[in-house]
Amino acid sequence: MKLSGNTILITGGSTGIGLAFAERFIKAGNTVIVCGRREKVLQNAKEKLPNLITRISDLTIEFERAALFDWVTSNYPDVNVLINNAGIQQSFNVLKADSKKDWGYFSKEISTNLEAPFQLSMLFAPFFANKKEATIINVTSGLAFTPFVIAPIYSATKAALHSFTVSLRHQLSDTSIEVIEVAPPAVNTDFLNGAGLPGEPLDAFADGIFKELEEGKNEIGYGTSVNRLRMSRDEIDEYVEKSYQATKNLI
Ligand SMILES: NC(=O)c1ccc[n+]([C@@H]2O[C@H](COP(=O)([O-])OP(=O)(O)OC[C@H]3O[C@@H](n4cnc5c(N)ncnc54)[C@H](OP(=O)(O)O)[C@@H]3O)[C@@H](O)[C@H]2O)c1
Repeated sequence: MKLSGNTILITGGSTGIGLAFAERFIKAGNTVIVCGRREKVLQNAKEKLPNLITRISDLTIEFERAALFDWVTSNYPDVNVLINNAGIQQSFNVLKADSKKDWGYFSKEISTNLEAPFQLSMLFAPFFANKKEATIINVTSGLAFTPFVIAPIYSATKAALHSFTVSLRHQLSDTSIEVIEVAPPAVNTDFLNGAGLPGEPLDAFADGIFKELEEGKNEIGYGTSVNRLRMSRDEIDEYVEKSYQATKNLI
């Protein structure tokens, strides 16, 4: 993708990976809009990056996804890049989870990580198809390829988003829309700090992804996720078992 002169919507760009991408895209000469649920966190992001455009939006709600599309396309009709980045991760033990009482909690992971990028891609793709150049970037995870057993719904959502991204790339191959997947390994953000696990330094990760975007890659890993994207089934089984043994005490 071209890295300057775009108008970019980054979902969940108020912190972490989305904010690190926003910072780099603004520096490279793009207009960047981010959304998130928490007003204060969006304000903090704007204090850090005064040119950032912010919008409160809860992407678990269908109406808010459509309203975000309407607001962005009417106020920033030059928008030509969508980065589906917002995501949450929940760890749990299936034997201890009360899914009858708490399904609302569990299904949030599905609506945030899957329904939102599915619907936003389907809203923006027809709009982007009239543009000279456009890009949809879906942020999946290395865990799309090697499930993190203690976060089973999360891993399944990312595997499904990977699959959707492959289909989207094929369906849009005759249009001006490029479809890119970024599959991070563990990266040091609030997201990971909650799980108490170590990760790659955020700035080094974001710089690494930008280098690959510049080189025109459409499936991008970093650190350990580079190999995981290409593992055989036997290697995946071994990797998953090892990672489960190391983390099963966390649930
Ligand atoms: N960090 C990692 O280790 C790692 C590894 C692999 C993949 N990823 C993926 O990378 C993406 C970004 O993660 P991160 O590490 O940057 O996490 P983060 O720092 O927790 O940021 C998540 C962002 O998403 C927003 N968000 C969450 N739920 C939302 C909702 N319902 N509607 C709108 N915005 C919402 C958050 O803002 P509010 O909470 O204010 O809404 C925040 O801006 C996610 O898709 C994650 O799955 C992360």
